[in-house]
Amino acid sequence: MQGKGTGALVLAAGKGTRMKSGTPKVLLPILGEPLLWYVLENLSGTPVDKKAVVVGHGRERVEDYVQEAWPETEICVQKRQNGTGHAVMSAGDWLRGLEHVIVLPGDVPQLSSRSAGWLLKEHVAGNGACTFFGFRPDDPSGYGRVIEKDGLVRVVEERDATEDEKKTPVANSGVYVFRVPDLLECLQGLGRENAQGEYYLTDVVESLSRTKAGAKMVLIDDADEVAGVNDPVQLARAAERIRDCILDRHMRAGVRCADPRTVYIGPKVQIDPDVSIDPFVQIYGGSKIGRGSRIGSHSLLRKVQCGNDVTITGHVDVRESSLADRSVIGPFSHIRNGSEIGEGAVIGKFVEVKNSRIGNDAKVPHLSYMGDADVGERTNVGAGTITCNYDGQKKHETRIGKDCFIGSDTMLVAPVELGDGSFTGAGSVITKDVPEGSLAVGRSRQTNIEGWAHRKKKQGGQS
Ligand code: UD1
Ligand code: CA
Repeated sequence: MQGKGTGALVLAAGKGTRMKSGTPKVLLPILGEPLLWYVLENLSGTPVDKKAVVVGHGRERVEDYVQEAWPETEICVQKRQNGTGHAVMSAGDWLRGLEHVIVLPGDVPQLSSRSAGWLLKEHVAGNGACTFFGFRPDDPSGYGRVIEKDGLVRVVEERDATEDEKKTPVANSGVYVFRVPDLLECLQGLGRENAQGEYYLTDVVESLSRTKAGAKMVLIDDADEVAGVNDPVQLARAAERIRDCILDRHMRAGVRCADPRTVYIGPKVQIDPDVSIDPFVQIYGGSKIGRGSRIGSHSLLRKVQCGNDVTITGHVDVRESSLADRSVIGPFSHIRNGSEIGEGAVIGKFVEVKNSRIGNDAKVPHLSYMGDADVGERTNVGAGTITCNYDGQKKHETRIGKDCFIGSDTMLVAPVELGDGSFTGAGSVITKDVPEGSLAVGRSRQTNIEGWAHRKKKQGGQS
């Protein structure tokens, strides 16, 4: 029976032995997103009707990620990791009913949508049973080699290759398009007589090559696109190239980088034109940086919504927070857990802000902790002010009105509320609410003991 539609199947069940990591290989991050993100994202630009991921090793973690980040993608389970051919067999039920499927490894993060789409087109136009990408890597070791001879094409794994076969410069990319009924039929006859005792998907190529419909290799020029990520060296190389592509894209769109070699920007980050980025900056997650902003050196931003003309002076760590237009942050500030910094607000040196709202034009310039706090517009928070938000069991809120002046070194013992326009004396411990427009002083009075030092000296002591 002829099926309908085209599917994409990502093989992500393997052990990733060469990576030597406790984290499943496909979840290892490149610029803040897992390897698998890139593979699925690149597929988003291709004309496929449905997608599935084969999971197995580290199944729960991979499954959780896919369900959360790619809810429309289906999951197939490969219980034991018996090879790439076996992984595809595990997706048998999902495959049935499809006409074509593009199968790709979960460790090929650089394959562009354009190339994947091109392979699909070539396959449909050629009317064969299998069309796959071969490539010419600088060093083909580790890859299967593509052998074309007597009108047939086959792939031999390095471990099973003869010395002569190893000299073949063309490697198998692991990216294939199959006509599904032919693939399913062929998988039934798949054996595991090879060096690893596994069911190789690569063996399907030769079998299909022998059928009337045949198999065809298409060479992809850019070897980087299909470079596999099997060990930490290949992971770092892939990350480097992906990083370069992302930076080029931003710089062409008007983002200035003083030293692009030291700037790291995740693939989901959006940056407006006329933003300037100093050396040693990292921006990850779905962050957005507005026009005219400057991100100073040694700053790390994750999931940050940054308005226009924001200045981040440097050495700043901001996560899951928003910085409104014209706010000034840093140096050495830490802003986290859904904090909202208002327009023109200042968060300065050695200041930590957690789950707090800092009003427009408010200032927290030095050495403070604002946790679970609400700071009104134009309020100035003096150096060393701390919200004592935790009583050992629960977190409590501090509310400071607008136009307040919080004296240096004020301890605000939460829950506590300070009315608009109120003041606190420096060094106060504020345990009670402060009414609007009042001054709160909560400290012991100073006593001067006159002549004390002089008397002490006379007694032979040191003052
Ligand atoms: C595979 C190809 C090789 C090709 C290379 C390209 C085979 C036998 N070899 O080798 O010809 O040159 O890719 O990168 O196919 N996987 C499973 N279940 C398993 C085993 C693997 O889902 O039981 C998944 C892995 O998670 C991985 C992908 O299949 O994403 C490829 O497996 P891997 O072990 O990396 O194959 P290679 O040795 O790179
Ligand atoms: Ca691989």
